[in-house]
Amino acid sequence: MVYVLGIESTAHTFGVGIIDSKFNILSDARSVLRPSGTLGIDPGEAAEHHSRVAVNVLLEALDKANLKLKDIDIVAFSKGPGLGPALRIGATLARGLAFKYNKPIYPVHHGLGHIELTVHLTNMKDPLVLLVSGGHTAILAFNEGRWRIYGETLDITVGNLFDSFARRLGIGFPGGPVIERMALKGKRYIELPYNVKGNNVVFSGLLTHATDLVDKYNKYDLAYSLQETAFSMLVEVTERALIQTDKKEICIAGGVASNNRLFNMIKTMAEDHGVKVGRLEGDLRRLNGDNGVQIALLGLLYYEAGTPATDLDKTFVYQRIRVDEEDVPWRM
Ligand SMILES: Nc1ncnc2c1ncn2[C@@H]1O[C@H](COP(=O)(O)OP(=O)(O)O)[C@@H](O)[C@H]1O
Ligand SMILES: [Mg+2]
Repeated sequence: MVYVLGIESTAHTFGVGIIDSKFNILSDARSVLRPSGTLGIDPGEAAEHHSRVAVNVLLEALDKANLKLKDIDIVAFSKGPGLGPALRIGATLARGLAFKYNKPIYPVHHGLGHIELTVHLTNMKDPLVLLVSGGHTAILAFNEGRWRIYGETLDITVGNLFDSFARRLGIGFPGGPVIERMALKGKRYIELPYNVKGNNVVFSGLLTHATDLVDKYNKYDLAYSLQETAFSMLVEVTERALIQTDKKEICIAGGVASNNRLFNMIKTMAEDHGVKVGRLEGDLRRLNGDNGVQIALLGLLYYEAGTPATDLDKTFVYQRIRVDEEDVPWRM
């Protein structure tokens, strides 16, 4: 049996996941930063948090998996996209382990981890993927060796939209789950800017407008209206990409995939086209958010596809790197 250890540190979460070569999830240890300021996640604060918790999260993951460091066969870490200082904590730990125990190391793309983990665990073959989180908002399909982007946000992500609006209401990170609960109490739709350009969405005008209305309207109605508007935009562009790509499955991945309203809206649209919709639910729901398991899975997939491990002096981090820059050899 081959054991793979994955380290996640792109933003708020420091996570270590361990899987085996049959893709049994042996452990999923995490510590999530609750940002102290009013401006969102400060990169220095995230790095400080990660360096403080890293060893304990690593030991917790090994303990739960009932393994020792020397038992690990492959090390993978999130190379980006993310906050530079936070990424470097994960990368440094991964390099240290790979060096000391002389193991192959794979730097992997965080967003690709969300995609592949969700596609694998929902048993989908060739889906259209709606990747929605604080770091990503994109519609993707696999085509000629890579996950290609068929639509995306032109400014902020849908996760940012909710987190920023929530901050204006004095709600801490993550704001998305709180907005979802508040929206259930909303009764009246308040007209907000709806901004779709081709297959792409634009959220900053919606954020500004909703934020300006905070003192004028009922906050539950606003949360409801914000969600309805943002998700209607996502449904429209997902439907267009679905027709263009002619896929028979849709998979929703990333932190915002936990949102039931989004899932039901996509499902209603998909049913019109006879298309199946999947996301991680039940016990697997926690894997929608950032975790080390998605990183370990990519390590395993590269390894099994015969991709050579990366030389230690080339294990760089990338604050900005798009999913469509990554070759996906296991799907070729
Ligand atoms: N139920 C929910 N409804 C809407 N947004 C949610 C929900 N749960 C989590 N989110 C959002 O998901 C984002 C976190 O996604 P995650 O993949 O963990 O992190 P990252 O975006 O850094 O990769 C946050 O913006 C959070 O508000
Ligand atoms: Mg993420």
